Amino acid sequence: MKILIVGNGGRENAIAYAVYNSDSFKRNSGKLYITGSNPGSEIFAESVSIEPTDLKSLSEFALLNNIDLTIAGPEIPLSMGIADEFISKGLKIFGPTKKAAEIESSKIFSKELMKKAGVPTADFRSFSSEDITTAEEFLGKSEYPLVLKADGLAAGKGVVIAENFEEAYETLKEFCSGEKFGKSANRFLTERFLTGEEVSVFAVTDGTDHVLLPFSQDHKKISEGETGKNTGGMGAVCPVKKFMTDEMVFKINSKIVKPVLKQMKKDGREFKGCLYCGLMIVKDEPFVIEFNCRFGDPETQAVLPLIESDFTELLFASAENEISEYSLKVKEEYSCCVVLASEGYPDSYEKGKRITGLDKTGGSCIVFQSGTKKTGNEIITDGGRVLSVTGISKTSLSDAVKTAYENAGKIEFENKYYRKDIGFRQLNNI
Ligand code: AMP
Ligand code: GLY
Repeated sequence: MKILIVGNGGRENAIAYAVYNSDSFKRNSGKLYITGSNPGSEIFAESVSIEPTDLKSLSEFALLNNIDLTIAGPEIPLSMGIADEFISKGLKIFGPTKKAAEIESSKIFSKELMKKAGVPTADFRSFSSEDITTAEEFLGKSEYPLVLKADGLAAGKGVVIAENFEEAYETLKEFCSGEKFGKSANRFLTERFLTGEEVSVFAVTDGTDHVLLPFSQDHKKISEGETGKNTGGMGAVCPVKKFMTDEMVFKINSKIVKPVLKQMKKDGREFKGCLYCGLMIVKDEPFVIEFNCRFGDPETQAVLPLIESDFTELLFASAENEISEYSLKVKEEYSCCVVLASEGYPDSYEKGKRITGLDKTGGSCIVFQSGTKKTGNEIITDGGRVLSVTGISKTSLSDAVKTAYENAGKIEFENKYYRKDIGFRQLNNI
């Protein structure tokens, strides 16, 4: 069995780990390839020097090497149509087509889809950058806080929560000038601010049926207590038991996942792969904040180590329309992923710092690598988010958190930065 993973961050490292450790992969003398090189993924996979955005070269590689399944990690190749490219060549791929990936690549499309399918989400209004006067008038009449979102992909930076008209107007000008967001904000939307608790839910689907993986919780802000700038995610915990009640699972399935999959199929945009549901739970009711067309990062680094059933078979089942046959088993365990970042992230930061102490980590801990590279015998930092340190426990979340932090403390590099409170909501029942 030959598998190619596209992308090479912490999420793809965790996917490589889960595939590599699946029984079906071992049974079938599996060989794993991954685009780019990163000393963490090289433990499991052979590195392929093709960019994730070079779709033609990737499909040629897959054809030439008889790849049985390609797993697309990040949103950019999916939004460019990597699945369409592979399917047109008769190759199997885990991930949605370009038309289906629009659920993430256009927030306006996504909101309109939700409206059409009757999915609970915050009320919204869309504008184009030519509508600046209408938008300004609307902002003048709005209640605050108000959420403003650029329509296109903006690496988590296209969402602004404006506390008052002045802040909203500044954002409006930024969106319309095109300087900061480029084409991403040619269109944008305003959305009612929801108060509640966020949870990430991964639905792995073949377009018709789906399975829900254990719920996780991201920590998106750079500083403790969810303060400061928005980031790609500074840590995650799994499972979020308080939301995994039969009643909530029923609501998420019947009000969100099923209607969306049905609507997409009806619209000729059948969604296969991982539908990431970013939810806000407001007084026991789930509302969709965003959909993504892929696994989340760093949630994946917390979720996948808890999957007991064969992960590789799950991905094949999605690509081969056999999710209804798949029986998901989850370990009765807890996980906590702490992201070690370079000081300065999400703005500017230095790279090239020597990382030590990786060999001292261990026990119930897995270290996934994201922004790292090898020079000679050394591993050095090469990105904003450098490592994902996942602690696992059979007994409690607090034990998983403790393990993650003990191991995070053993790893050293200059300008190492990490949040000290991952899991605070679940641990303190906030
Ligand atoms: P998004 O990229 O749409 O997930 O937004 C990024 C973050 O902004 C989310 O994780 C939330 O914390 C916050 N956010 C987005 N939309 C809303 C909303 N309608 N109400 C409250 N917070 C929101
Ligand atoms: N952790 C948020 C995301 O992957 O979009």
